[in-house]
Amino acid sequence: MRGKFITLEGIEGSGKSTSLKDIANTLDKKSIDYILTKEPGSGSLGKDLRSLLLSNDNKISSEVELLLMMADRKNHLDSLIIPNLNNGKWVISDRYLDSTYAYQGGGRNMDFALIDELSNSLNLPAPDLTILFDLPVEIALERAKQRANLDRFEKEPIDFHNRIRNIYKARAEEDSKRIKIVDSSVSFQEVKDQVVYIISQFLNE
Ligand code: TYD
Repeated sequence: MRGKFITLEGIEGSGKSTSLKDIANTLDKKSIDYILTKEPGSGSLGKDLRSLLLSNDNKISSEVELLLMMADRKNHLDSLIIPNLNNGKWVISDRYLDSTYAYQGGGRNMDFALIDELSNSLNLPAPDLTILFDLPVEIALERAKQRANLDRFEKEPIDFHNRIRNIYKARAEEDSKRIKIVDSSVSFQEVKDQVVYIISQFLNE
């Protein structure tokens, strides 16, 4: 049987990467075979694309940024996501297509129709479940700043991050069956409880 495809989304410092561990533990308890992965940056081509995309030294236009994100995604799908799903493994990806709508569409103000077109032409599959980690931008950026170096996206002004958050929330409202929101402004334990609940509900469907 084909595996399930789960993605984690949210603004910088929203705590999604921390929650990967909780998801992994929940799946382990059910003896579900899975892989953990992330975008951008899977595989050797992905690693190069990731460093191009995140480097503060690069001046990249919004169009090129969008195309590089999509190139990374197509490579990720073909080399890792699809083969694993076809082998019956679940794939848990830290970021996927909703990031492009939020960051390039919302953050960079790019035309959503262009993202739709690329996504349709490349036949990008929709995840079975997406967990959106949501919290006010001010709190999230404070958390992100605790990390060592800020990348090209983390250095953007607060409005950029607010536009991203708003697009994420709008998408979750439009597609509430697939996208489940976690309030990540609360304690680690409370975030964990929400994540475990969402995964358990999904397993019972
Ligand atoms: P990363 O260090 O992985 O950040 P995070 O821990 O927040 O996921 O950096 C990935 C950056 O790339 C992040 O700022 C979001 C951005 N991004 C896009 O702009 N568009 C995309 O389609 C994806 C997948 C990521």
